[in-house]
Amino acid sequence: MIDHRTLRVALLGAGSVGSQVARLLREHGDDFAERSGARLELAGILVRDLDAPRDVDLPRELLTTDAESLIVGADIVIELMGGIEPARTHILTALNSGADVVTGNKALLAQHGPEIFDAADQVGASVSYEAAVAGAIPIIRPLKDSLAGDRIVRIFGIVNGSTNFILDKMDREGLSAEDAQRLATDLGYLEADPTLDLEGYDAAQKAAILASLAFHTEVSMDDVHREGIESITADMIEGARRAGFVIKLLAICERLADADGEAISVRVYPALISREHPLATVHGGNNAVFVEGEAAGPLMFYGAGAGGVQTASAVLGDVVSAARRHIAGG
Ligand code: HSE
Repeated sequence: MIDHRTLRVALLGAGSVGSQVARLLREHGDDFAERSGARLELAGILVRDLDAPRDVDLPRELLTTDAESLIVGADIVIELMGGIEPARTHILTALNSGADVVTGNKALLAQHGPEIFDAADQVGASVSYEAAVAGAIPIIRPLKDSLAGDRIVRIFGIVNGSTNFILDKMDREGLSAEDAQRLATDLGYLEADPTLDLEGYDAAQKAAILASLAFHTEVSMDDVHREGIESITADMIEGARRAGFVIKLLAICERLADADGEAISVRVYPALISREHPLATVHGGNNAVFVEGEAAGPLMFYGAGAGGVQTASAVLGDVVSAARRHIAGG
């Protein structure tokens, strides 16, 4: 049997994604060791409340409310708390203590991405964030690595699962906006603050992250035109349906020619899509992202855009990569 080096993994957050990450890390530890060359030891899980009910039963001895002790001494820190603070501070502490960071925190990256990436560069650590955009769908690594040799001209698609679920229920089952939203809430699809989804903030954060990556420039939330689905009624959906269209909340990032040469346009708004277009067939909480490369032409990425276990897949891919990086770095 190979004697793998052990890497200590600190998990910050045990919500729907975090608890699944903990479960899969513990259940598939041998597979991860084989794939990464390192034994990944879950050193602890930072929680706000030790007694809160969770999606997965987690060993009590792994839970802690002491962030500092958990983070310092970890080789890989997985941040799945969401929100700006204390997530930002914890990530900076992790980087400054030499850990690689894996995060799914789109709000933080859209607002403080440059600060976090600069901090990582200064210490030679990595920050990976596949889970921040489009749940289980690999889209960050393809943009960063697979398409690094191409010039991306446009990205557009559905990057918010809960609003897609709501619009889809209204379109296919004739539900009112209120009933569709209630159902989405009951199924746990919406963010804790539902206005983040309904008013397009979540999609705008993801669009800012995608545009920054694809166009190699800093795109912040202030650069994103944002409209949500709050004013979409059942009558509008029905009118669109009769005319051969479906309404979808789209995120569009593109290079536009302007008088000075070229500008970047990033916008999120509810749009009419022909029922013939592949995006019209994206149902429920799924996402779909089209990427157009100058050389590659159009590529489509499709799948589960949200969900605890689905998003955990994206997180763990980043964890295995971070472990390989650690092992290669000695
Ligand atoms: N609230 C988000 C969505 C969760 O509905 O897409 C996944 O980022």
